[in-house]
Amino acid sequence: MAVLDVVLWPAPVLETRASEVSEFNAGLRQFVANMHETMHAAGGIGLAANQVGDLRRVITIEIPWSEARDGEELEAKEWWHNKTFTFVNPVITKKAGKFKFQEGCLSFPDLFEFVDRAAEVWVSAKDEHGKPFELHANGLLAVCLQHEIDHIDGIVFIDRMSRLKANMARKKLARRGAPITTTDPVKA
Ligand code: NI
Repeated sequence: MAVLDVVLWPAPVLETRASEVSEFNAGLRQFVANMHETMHAAGGIGLAANQVGDLRRVITIEIPWSEARDGEELEAKEWWHNKTFTFVNPVITKKAGKFKFQEGCLSFPDLFEFVDRAAEVWVSAKDEHGKPFELHANGLLAVCLQHEIDHIDGIVFIDRMSRLKANMARKKLARRGAPITTTDPVKA
């Protein structure tokens, strides 16, 4: 396995729609393994292929359960905590409710901002062997899936912010290097 370089915004590959995977071969499985290793090394809870410069519709997710994030109440353990997920060609088939979470992104170091998402999503995808599966996600898994599926559609999270917030974010990024205070270190 290998740790891949994470592409930082701005970069064309982050704003390009990735293509459906049609060959479920050893090369794909090696790539998936590298994505998981890269996600762990970077301390992210999710990663999309675009973020390592590859335009295949592949995402990886692993959300560690922590008894308490900074300043937050004890977090309920969900079925999806501490599980390793690989989604190839994922499609959101249904959404429900509304949820706002302070998101981060490995391609936007030190930027954390609230984004409006659906509270629940139903996803249909394939694993790295080409086996189809369906999944119903809530909470942070639902947020993470929407964030990562946006990535493979060439959409980054500042595109989901209001114009005001997106402009503030761009200014923050322009003076990158300045310490930015944040309460939530979750990056995807
Ligand atoms: Ni991201």
